[in-house]
Amino acid sequence: MIPWQEIDRAEIPGHKGEVILRKRGTEFSMRTAGIELMNSRRHGSEAALAELACSRVKPKSGLRILIGGLGMGYTLAAALEQSEPDTLITVSELIPAVVRWNREHLGHLAGMPLDDPRVSVEEEDVVVTIRKRKSAWDTILLDVDNGPDGLTRKANDRLYSISGLKISFSALRPGGILGVWSSGADEAFTRRLKQCGFQTETVTVPVRKPGKGGRHIIWLAGKP
Ligand SMILES: C[S@@+](CC[C@H](N)C(=O)[O-])C[C@H]1O[C@@H](n2cnc3c(N)ncnc32)[C@H](O)[C@@H]1O
Repeated sequence: MIPWQEIDRAEIPGHKGEVILRKRGTEFSMRTAGIELMNSRRHGSEAALAELACSRVKPKSGLRILIGGLGMGYTLAAALEQSEPDTLITVSELIPAVVRWNREHLGHLAGMPLDDPRVSVEEEDVVVTIRKRKSAWDTILLDVDNGPDGLTRKANDRLYSISGLKISFSALRPGGILGVWSSGADEAFTRRLKQCGFQTETVTVPVRKPGKGGRHIIWLAGKP
């Protein structure tokens, strides 16, 4: 068995914890607080988040997509695959080192998506990006924790609260979709989405393609 090798670690802004990037052969892993945030061997559901949300958005031209956060770039690469030449994608990433790791170590995993001219990166909390504009986005894709509960840092809880969901609702264009990735179901979160005016759909997706292993959950919450 090849041992894990630590490549780098970085502090999480606004939180006491760290994120650690490790490598074992061709496999990469990001961990925080002893829990794996992302592994390069399992990314089917991260891609499905973008595929499912983008396939539901109409019309397809002039799309504006917000992704939080970058991770290893699989959601971003899948969003690019769904996009037209005039699509613009903003990625909000809280930890500047994660952006640097993608440029230095991880970019090849998802086909160098940061090099695409349709992509821009905001090194900030996605909450801040969402708050900046109203009726701005056709889709907001959130994969910043293990689900609607702040794993990376407790402050992320506000994304999934009633007040946070109302801000996402107003940041979406009519017909827009909020997509949220999760490792498991959460009925209370579905109820909160409905309370905020979203039409919700929950899709169960395989962790890996073509369907080996467990299942993850994606909420597709539409703004009427
Ligand atoms: C599970 S990974 C995302 C995986 C990604 N979907 C992919 O395809 O590789 C979570 C990412 O969200 C970032 N993150 C956590 N909280 C955030 C926040 N409040 N705003 C922006 N990015 C955040 C983390 O630093 C990490 O890069």
